[in-house]
Amino acid sequence: MDMIRIGVIGTGSISGLHLNAYRNNPQTSVYAVCDLNEERARAAAAEYGAEKVYTDYRELLADSGVDAVSICTWNNSHAEISIAALEAGKHVLVEKPLCRTFEEALQVEQAVQKSGKILQVGFVRRYDANAQLLHTLVEKGEFGEIYYAKATTLRRLGNPGGWFADIERSGGGPLIDIGVHVIDLCWYLMGRPKPVSVSANTYRKLGNRANVEYLSFYKAADYDAALNTVEDLANALIRFENGASLMVDVSFTLHAKEDERSVRLYGEKGGFEIDPEIVIISEQSNTIVNIYPQTDHKGFDFNSAFQHEINHFASSIHTGSEPISPVQDGVAIMKILGGIYESAAKGEEVKL
Ligand SMILES: NC(=O)c1ccc[n+]([C@@H]2O[C@H](COP(=O)([O-])OP(=O)(O)OC[C@H]3O[C@@H](n4cnc5c(N)ncnc54)[C@H](O)[C@@H]3O)[C@@H](O)[C@H]2O)c1
Repeated sequence: MDMIRIGVIGTGSISGLHLNAYRNNPQTSVYAVCDLNEERARAAAAEYGAEKVYTDYRELLADSGVDAVSICTWNNSHAEISIAALEAGKHVLVEKPLCRTFEEALQVEQAVQKSGKILQVGFVRRYDANAQLLHTLVEKGEFGEIYYAKATTLRRLGNPGGWFADIERSGGGPLIDIGVHVIDLCWYLMGRPKPVSVSANTYRKLGNRANVEYLSFYKAADYDAALNTVEDLANALIRFENGASLMVDVSFTLHAKEDERSVRLYGEKGGFEIDPEIVIISEQSNTIVNIYPQTDHKGFDFNSAFQHEINHFASSIHTGSEPISPVQDGVAIMKILGGIYESAAKGEEVKL
């Protein structure tokens, strides 16, 4: 099989997980990198052995040595770079969220259809071994129909600032940054039912709390305490055509005692949790039993999930088969996220 030559666009924090996984994959080689920040791009090229360094993604896309790209830039350029890459004949792995809005998502979908190239959305939670195990069990009908899911990712202090806090570049706050992961995970594990309506609230009450002392948190490279134009908290109730519902709440900051993470799904024959740890809930001989599957990691494992995501991208390119997180799923999730922001702005339920 031919080696797939990769270009990584955006060499900030998350790119390291992509670059490392490409380096570990025998079918891929890191050929080029690109970042607006040349020093950052050069450092990544030196660490991962890339031959070519660019600061303009258009030049990287014009390089016939590049077969496929990972897009690890701010959310505001995901749609533009994805479309340009597809038009240049490259396969695309684009970080989550697919883009900032449903309208942008439709444009990306059109470009995928026109190009016939692979586009995989970086819904990395799907690629975790526990998610795959539970997905297989769902498909086998072990839980019966899943009719309710509940997801929480509450940070008490965790607005990363920088572009994450700038709505122009991010498209939103905790909902589009961390909510997208758990909404997608639940939706995927529920069997991707058609969303029909959303009732939601967003709040901007606490700001970025740059005043807080004695407690540290992750800050983006270009952290600026004066810049924050995104929500602190979002909650939503999403209704699906088959009668199922999903309740979600996510925050960058909240007066909470501690951070809270849970993802729980409930079916007619059983239920399960995946965050913070995998557990299956069932009934045996008129007794409720909690079953703890013996897997390598009880919770989400970042490194192996990224490796599986990259391996899947490489094998989808080789076989020409649709990835398990195709563009249409990115479009569906952008529809839900857009509906949440719209419902919150209007103060009423919106039909999707
Ligand atoms: N899958 C996950 O779990 C996960 C985790 C973190 C971030 N992400 C996603 O990855 C993306 C990047 O996040 P990050 O945390 O690495 O941010 P970051 O700020 O650390 O890095 C982004 C890099 O992209 C560069 N960049 C921005 N626009 C560019 C352009 N047009 N051309 C070239 N370079 C450009 C910036 O200079 C920066 O170096 C975001 O979309 C984010 O949502 C995903």
